Amino acid sequence: MAEDLNRRDFLSTTGKIAAAGATVWSALHPAVHIARGAAVNANDKIVVGLIGCGGMGNYDLDDFMRVPEVAVAALCDIDESHLNDTATKVDKKYKSKPKTHVDYRELLDNKDIDVVIIGTPDHWHAIPFINACLAGKDVYCEKPISHNILEGRAMVKAAHEKKRVTQIGTQQRSGEHFKKAVEIVKSGKLGRITMTKTWNLSNEAPYGFGRPSDEPHAPSGVDYDRWLGPAPLRPFNPLRFHYQWRWFFDYASGMIGDWNVHLQDIIQWGMGVTAPKSVNAAGGKFAIDDLRDTPDTMVVTYEFDSAQGPFVQVYEMRKANEHGIGGNPGHGMQFHGTDATLYIDRDGFEVIPEKDGGGGDPRKRKDRTAAIKSGGSDQHWPHVQDFIRCFKSRERCICDVETGNAITRSCHLGNISYKLGRKIFWNAADETIVHKDGRVDSEATALLGREYRKGYELPAV
Ligand SMILES: NC(=O)c1ccc[n+]([C@@H]2O[C@H](COP(=O)([O-])OP(=O)(O)OC[C@H]3O[C@@H](n4cnc5c(N)ncnc54)[C@H](O)[C@@H]3O)[C@@H](O)[C@H]2O)c1
Repeated sequence: MAEDLNRRDFLSTTGKIAAAGATVWSALHPAVHIARGAAVNANDKIVVGLIGCGGMGNYDLDDFMRVPEVAVAALCDIDESHLNDTATKVDKKYKSKPKTHVDYRELLDNKDIDVVIIGTPDHWHAIPFINACLAGKDVYCEKPISHNILEGRAMVKAAHEKKRVTQIGTQQRSGEHFKKAVEIVKSGKLGRITMTKTWNLSNEAPYGFGRPSDEPHAPSGVDYDRWLGPAPLRPFNPLRFHYQWRWFFDYASGMIGDWNVHLQDIIQWGMGVTAPKSVNAAGGKFAIDDLRDTPDTMVVTYEFDSAQGPFVQVYEMRKANEHGIGGNPGHGMQFHGTDATLYIDRDGFEVIPEKDGGGGDPRKRKDRTAAIKSGGSDQHWPHVQDFIRCFKSRERCICDVETGNAITRSCHLGNISYKLGRKIFWNAADETIVHKDGRVDSEATALLGREYRKGYELPAV
């Protein structure tokens, strides 16, 4: 690799430049670039660019900056204040200012960048992801992977065709206690699993996030047109902007895509399934009087076939009552088997044995299996480390775009059924929604994608 320097050369170059008072990244960067698409030398630098310097983009970047080989070359955001805050942080750590961009395409044009982190809102994942793959970058992309199912399909295709290493931000997979729990599920210890459950519970009634008025313009330093991107043009409203965009279908998928994507992941992983046979959602915006257009109450019932046989997955979401299932608050997941239930959340898991019949005598009933309890484990840092390991080895990450697509797709299917108010059937072979008798369900299939605003179309793959 003619353009590479070893670590000693890099440190000496860095030292000289720093001594000369030059702290601009580009002055030292070209010498330390890693060849993309190949296994890399442990002494090389991994050059990272971040698109979307908001809450989660920064959280991701912080863990990337813990990796000794990582250097941060460039940042992109449509909000000048986010861009500047993150640039100051990077400068403080590396004593070297990253380049800053409002247009992500300029960041992707930077041939020195090996890895792109995508921390934009959901409606802004697919376009930079696909273009990053086409530009030969590896990608760490936040969950849910996409705004809709067709985007996910195109993202998988782009990553495969360009042989990119990808990791999706469903970081629970990298937590040791999640790995241990999934091993238990796969071991058969729970018996025949006939039902799984995931839930998100909170109480935001009666006014939720309120009904702020539209404003004549976006805050200064914000490129609002670019923030909207592929979504329909509309007046600026602070509730449809930073962080809160997730409650609007124009940009995201509500709670099922925002949170159940983490939970559904563990269920699909544990049960070894990638797609449901059918999906049936019920719910609505029943109790909360605010601007959001995603539901405050929802139950989605999925039918899956696993190696064990059929099972039902139930997602329950309440935003107007937070009383926990089995007393468990907030969120959680359960695998219900004939011999035990496995309960898990981010703080730990528990195997709760079922009892056998006791020959009709309740006093003789015995546990069908041993009880187990475990505490929680770190998830995000090992997830970033897994990506770095795969960046070097060119292996598949623990949650690459293909897996991330399978999870996200299940969540989007829940919303399609919710919007139609009826059960839908998924044909995994050709990735269409069909009627029970196998005929294409054109009404539902029309909801697999979205309309793209001119200038922000999905790149052709
Ligand atoms: N893995 C997790 O546990 C986790 C937790 C929270 C959020 N997330 C995901 O992270 C992503 C970001 O969520 P957030 O809460 O940080 O949102 P946010 O609104 O706080 O941040 C998004 C940032 O992207 C910027 N942005 C928007 N459009 C852009 C564009 N075209 N180019 C460049 N920058 C652009 C915004 O200005 C903002 O700074 C979402 O996909 C979300 O689902 C994941």
